Amino acid sequence: MPFHPLTVARLDRSADDAVAITLAVPPALRGVFRHVPGQHLTVRHAGLRRTYSLCSPAGPERGEVTIGVRLIPGGAFSTHAVTALAAGDRLDVMPPRGRFTLRPAPGHYAAVAGGSGITPVLSMAASLLAARTDARFTLLRSDRTAGSAMFLDEVADLKDRHPGRFQLAHALTREERQAGPASGRLDAARLRDLLAALVPPDAVTGWYLCGPPGLIDASRSALRALGVPPERVRSELFLTTPDPPATLENERSFSDSPPHPAPHTTTLTALLDGRGTTCAATPGEPLLSALLRARPDAPYACRGGVCGTCRARLTEGRVHLARNDALEDDELAAGYVLACQAQPLTDHVALDFDA
Ligand code: FES
Repeated sequence: MPFHPLTVARLDRSADDAVAITLAVPPALRGVFRHVPGQHLTVRHAGLRRTYSLCSPAGPERGEVTIGVRLIPGGAFSTHAVTALAAGDRLDVMPPRGRFTLRPAPGHYAAVAGGSGITPVLSMAASLLAARTDARFTLLRSDRTAGSAMFLDEVADLKDRHPGRFQLAHALTREERQAGPASGRLDAARLRDLLAALVPPDAVTGWYLCGPPGLIDASRSALRALGVPPERVRSELFLTTPDPPATLENERSFSDSPPHPAPHTTTLTALLDGRGTTCAATPGEPLLSALLRARPDAPYACRGGVCGTCRARLTEGRVHLARNDALEDDELAAGYVLACQAQPLTDHVALDFDA
């Protein structure tokens, strides 16, 4: 999937240590950059790729898109974004991807968002409430302090614009406040009580959890205790490490060692953007690494098994997935793999990136 140079239209401070970067999308690329609420963009800068969720609402003919970037100490792109990036600069950006999405439909939707996990949730809530007058959204957000909370004004705007259809509770875990939940860590028991008080759990069509692993795990436990069926709950993990996969989708991982790696060089055939390529992969080598030697345009972002950008369908042979934090069970059952984590087990393997 190609990168496109987009111009920074403006930068807005979205928290003490975060910026919202709005990128102008020229008319010829508006179809390419149309997104579903919850999707993310991959940005390429100084040879690195980073993935950031879109916070702007989805719409048919948008001339710009916005991502939220929090400064991570030691983070190469986030430091550049918060301290040096300016309007008029260009960034190489891959079109929106990701399956942690909410397509506007009637119903009552709810989210638990922690820290920068508010970014895709803001897009979901804004898009849903604007598109459907028969939909509601309940948000429980959690931040360390008010100063670190991204998009406070934009979330407050939703309350003003959609009174009666948008409900908000804001927990600050390290700061006392006069209204709202008491400060302190949100564990499963507190979440269960808070969520049950906010909305009858069985009235919710879909739950969206987005934030650090501890909050996702605690929220899943709380919803389980409230009797919410797991298939109504979707999650996206956010990590804040200096060398991040910026977004992580779902929470399974495969860490077993490969059962029987192919003892010899494997022939890899890949179909990508309608063009077939054949190349060689050495024993244990991730198929993406092998393919990139022949096809530098092969899609990837995190190379850590978490963003799903390198998803492809295995059409021949067998592979071992060293890690999977991106594909759902139904995708695995349909034969999808992550090329960055797929190690060949057979002499010939075929991947279809267009499937
Ligand atoms: S590049 Fe992110 S999962 Fe493979």
